[in-house]
Amino acid sequence: MGLLDGRNAVITGGAQGIGFEIAGVLGGAGASVVLGDINEQAAAEAADQLAKNGVAATSLRCDVTDEDEVAALVAHCTDTFGPVGVMVNNAGITRDATLRKMALADFRAVVDVHLTGAWNGTRYAAEAMRAHGQGGSIVNISSIAGKVGNFGQTNYSAAKAGLVGLTKASAKELAKASVRVNAVQPGLIRTAMTEAMPKAAWDAKLAEIPLGRAGEPAEVAQVVLFLASDLASYVTGAVVEVTGGRYM
Ligand SMILES: NC(=O)c1ccc[n+]([C@@H]2O[C@H](COP(=O)([O-])OP(=O)(O)OC[C@H]3O[C@@H](n4cnc5c(N)ncnc54)[C@H](O)[C@@H]3O)[C@@H](O)[C@H]2O)c1
Repeated sequence: MGLLDGRNAVITGGAQGIGFEIAGVLGGAGASVVLGDINEQAAAEAADQLAKNGVAATSLRCDVTDEDEVAALVAHCTDTFGPVGVMVNNAGITRDATLRKMALADFRAVVDVHLTGAWNGTRYAAEAMRAHGQGGSIVNISSIAGKVGNFGQTNYSAAKAGLVGLTKASAKELAKASVRVNAVQPGLIRTAMTEAMPKAAWDAKLAEIPLGRAGEPAEVAQVVLFLASDLASYVTGAVVEVTGGRYM
């Protein structure tokens, strides 16, 4: 028996990195998975790879900033596998610059993808979960940047802190429908996003981590699995740090 047998999960930004790993771990626990990503080709290839590993998987091009595309993603889950039971708002981008150099367009783009995108995902998944009447679990991928603020990331830190407010407010609104909403704050995780970082910046971050190493995408995905599953049946509005103890 898998922890998510018979459930359907939608993961935004699921074509690569942490989102792809989450899809694999939830799929490995028995869920059917729907990958939504702005990179249509990569999402299709990712779904094929999951299917080769025995996971029921499908994909759809979805820009999370576009309300209609998010609605279509949730509907694609219903049409392909059945009603969504787990929604993971994971899609993300970075546009780093100091406050003096950052263009307003880069502030807006980052807030739009992370925060508006997760709001869209929460709204449409919650509507489908309510209609189905079996509850559900929504997991928002925030970041430790939303707790401490990162130099050169006023846009990203603001968006990731905003996700905490979104998580708690929607957890309060959706509790009576037995829909739980939680957030995960990963620290330094080894993905394409972080491997692009200059070595000196990587080493400086590493020095701050009590466990003495970067995390792997699977270590974030395992926490998402916990929050998605009935193991976390009494957990809502929580923010779980997955940082190796950094900034505890
Ligand atoms: N890597 C880390 O160390 C780390 C740490 C904390 C939080 N996070 C968060 O985890 C999430 C995943 O990060 P990652 O490192 O795997 O990044 P990544 O760049 O490897 O993957 C991000 C995915 O999101 C997709 N995407 C981008 N814009 C989109 C949009 N508008 N609509 C739909 N999909 C879109 C991309 O195509 C890509 O597939 C992000 O929210 C990120 O902020 C990452």
